Amino acid sequence: MRHIVVAVDGPAGSGKSSVSRRVAAEMGLKYIDSGALYRSITWQVLQSEGVVTPEFAFSAGMAGMDITQEFLPDGTSRTRINGNDVSLLIRDEAIARNIGIISDNRDVREFVNGLLRKWARKESVIMDGRDIGTVVFPDADLKIYLDASADVRAARRVKEYRELGKDVDENVIKKQIILRDEQDRERPFGALVRADEAVYIDTSHMTMDQVVERIKDCIRAIV
Ligand code: DC
Repeated sequence: MRHIVVAVDGPAGSGKSSVSRRVAAEMGLKYIDSGALYRSITWQVLQSEGVVTPEFAFSAGMAGMDITQEFLPDGTSRTRINGNDVSLLIRDEAIARNIGIISDNRDVREFVNGLLRKWARKESVIMDGRDIGTVVFPDADLKIYLDASADVRAARRVKEYRELGKDVDENVIKKQIILRDEQDRERPFGALVRADEAVYIDTSHMTMDQVVERIKDCIRAIV
């Protein structure tokens, strides 16, 4: 297969990550989780500072941090920051509460985008996020925009948290999703925008298998 970049964007809980992992495993692509990088940086700031304040600045020291992401054949990924495996730690609700300031920061975004572009040069990738097809890879070979209603997305997030053994309140999660949508759409750099040329898929009433097959068909059409 020729070298390709598949960009998958959409709001929180639209199924980007689960679907992209499966497509990657089934089509021999590397899956890259860009949200995990923003989460890892938030985790690192919370570790070193204890809080994320509106005055947060991305220091030269932080730009030297070593972030890696490995995609395993079983469809899971491992994100490491300075050698620490933070894959599970970054799924904590405290990260979701503090991530807004980090992902709004222009220097953080440039750092993350540089890493994503470097990784994608090495092999064919399917990468999910908010601005992958618009900012990170405006020339991506294929752009997908996944969507779903806020109710469906909240229910999916609750299920994910519960599978990790976390007891969460569905109403709280729905409010968080709506807040995250606003933050994602209004972010000064790298906002969530649906690219005109992206294939739009509303997953609200689709099974995961259907979404996976749809994307695989789109990939087969371009390789
Ligand atoms: O996809 P996720 O929920 O793990 O993303 C975590 C946060 O990171 C989310 O609030 C939006 C932000 N994000 C971003 O700003 N740009 C991306 N490309 C990916 C995620």
